[in-house]
Amino acid sequence: MNPKERLLAWFHRNKRDLPFRKKKAAYEIWISEIMLQQTRVAAMLPLYSKFLAKFPDIETLAKAQEEEVLSAWQGLGYYSRARNIRKAAIYLTSNFNGRFPKDLTEALKIPGIGPYTARAVLSIAYDFRVAVLDGNVKRVLSRFFQYEENILGSKADRDLQALADGFLNLESPGDHNQAVMELGAMICLPENPKCLTCPLIGDCKTQVTGKTDSIPRRIKDKKQIHLFGNILWIACGDEVLLIRELRPRFLKGMYVLPIFFVTEDRDDVYAPSEDLELLNLSFDFRTLPMKFKHTITHHKFEFQIKRSEVIKDVLKSKMNQFGPDLLWKWVKIEELTSQFPSSIARKVKMEIEKQN
Ligand code: ADE
Repeated sequence: MNPKERLLAWFHRNKRDLPFRKKKAAYEIWISEIMLQQTRVAAMLPLYSKFLAKFPDIETLAKAQEEEVLSAWQGLGYYSRARNIRKAAIYLTSNFNGRFPKDLTEALKIPGIGPYTARAVLSIAYDFRVAVLDGNVKRVLSRFFQYEENILGSKADRDLQALADGFLNLESPGDHNQAVMELGAMICLPENPKCLTCPLIGDCKTQVTGKTDSIPRRIKDKKQIHLFGNILWIACGDEVLLIRELRPRFLKGMYVLPIFFVTEDRDDVYAPSEDLELLNLSFDFRTLPMKFKHTITHHKFEFQIKRSEVIKDVLKSKMNQFGPDLLWKWVKIEELTSQFPSSIARKVKMEIEKQN
């Protein structure tokens, strides 16, 4: 057997028994793939079954209120995924009769669906001959082909997508894609890969040359990191809300205006905490038109201010949902810059004053 055939045979013998593998149904596969993007299998399984019990098909999901969908998403974090899933269901109901389109270009137009998800759903549900590329696949293929360049960055994505396309098993594209991902999750681990039990042993160039410690190469460009963020201005009369998180990424040890970064990847070190995401969802905000820039060492931020006027009692009841990791207090707006001693406070206050 050639390596691809051995991989597939290994997958059929060793694959985990997962609910979304029981039948080839695009809706179920789509939901599972979105959940798995930022959440581990063990954590997503109970929520996955509950979600499908509540929203058994695209039409039901399209008819649901946003709050219902968000509430079914509790525990998974990164809530814009849930909002996009509902938007996508509405889109599919009005454009495709509540079905997932059998077309890559059309699938890519669905809200919240990028190249990975489109390819995963089309190959697994409909046997489309398209190869997926996610973190696990990149590791497996960079080792198998001994791809020695940095795997972070768009050049590597293009190179590895081409390798993935060439490696695709055209007889069973869906199972092949899942097999590569499964191999990355179970055998071809980032550290101490289990090469002795790997079906690709002998054909994996990196295993043969013994370089699994140094491939894939991951070189982060330390020079400059650009981040987009939102700053929440939650005010009541002449006071504004400051928070303090147990483990903030920046501005440690002080009360700050709630700041979170917009990122698609929950494993990203800049991803907001679940508390911050919930705080952001708890009020109706108006986004101010002006953006401003701020730099902390090699991080370049671009911030947008989102503003909400609240009633203190309402805020208090919302804040009670947070655990001990999030402290909060009201401060007088005139004292903001001394209570939150960063030039961010001064910049935000200036923008707010322009609006008043
Ligand atoms: N990771 C994300 N989706 C997966 C799948 N269908 N099989 C294995 N690993 C995955």
